[in-house]
Amino acid sequence: MIGIYDSGIGGLGIFNAIKQVLPYESILYYGDTAYFPFGSRQPNEVRRITLTSVKKLAEQCNIIVIACNTASVNDLDYYRENASVPIVGVVPVVKTAAALTKNGQIALLGTQVTTESAYTDKLIQEFAANKTVHKISCPGLASAVEYDTLTEAHLRGYLEPVQDADIVVLGCTHYTLIKGEIQRLVGPDVKVIDSNEAVARQTLRMLQQSGNMSSHAQPMYTFECSGDRAAFLEQIKRYAHL
Ligand code: DGL
Repeated sequence: MIGIYDSGIGGLGIFNAIKQVLPYESILYYGDTAYFPFGSRQPNEVRRITLTSVKKLAEQCNIIVIACNTASVNDLDYYRENASVPIVGVVPVVKTAAALTKNGQIALLGTQVTTESAYTDKLIQEFAANKTVHKISCPGLASAVEYDTLTEAHLRGYLEPVQDADIVVLGCTHYTLIKGEIQRLVGPDVKVIDSNEAVARQTLRMLQQSGNMSSHAQPMYTFECSGDRAAFLEQIKRYAHL
């Protein structure tokens, strides 16, 4: 069983991508909604909350995908050292953005924790040192997606600082759920990218390597959360391709 972890519904894009490349695997999706949003918490708090839940998931799953940039940047090595199963994470796709940009201007949208993290700076240094990366923190955007309160005017406001960038990196999994709307607002000359498919392929590779692939004719998909279950399941129906 694959465990997918996020603060809420953000990881559903990764759930959909994993279901495509691993159609025989059962998946337990866990939204840690009692602690949502992670993006405005202290990094240490995010680390502690995530590790506690990852350890619980590890009792039922043979691989865990941390489908949350905010948790992954704080940081994957720590979870890997302390969990008993392989961990796949999701971090902003800075390397891909650097390879794709034509004008050298990249906009990286993320939560405050992600845009301010040393891990994100390290990615930029390592892969995009000769580009300009505009880190744009979007407080409240993940919540608007989680609770379905987003308006177009609201979204336009977040995208204003994107300006000259020809690549927009979605550095928060919640934003990938509204990728189509973001793409429409930034226009066809700007490429909006995320790592949902890459994370799914990496999960496939890791399962192959560890010899843990399943062959259930009828895989099971289970959705659990630590907060309000009714609201969570409503959003699952909306975004999960079941
Ligand atoms: N989905 C999470 C991410 O990828 C963040 C949402 C939150 O603030 O909890 O960063």
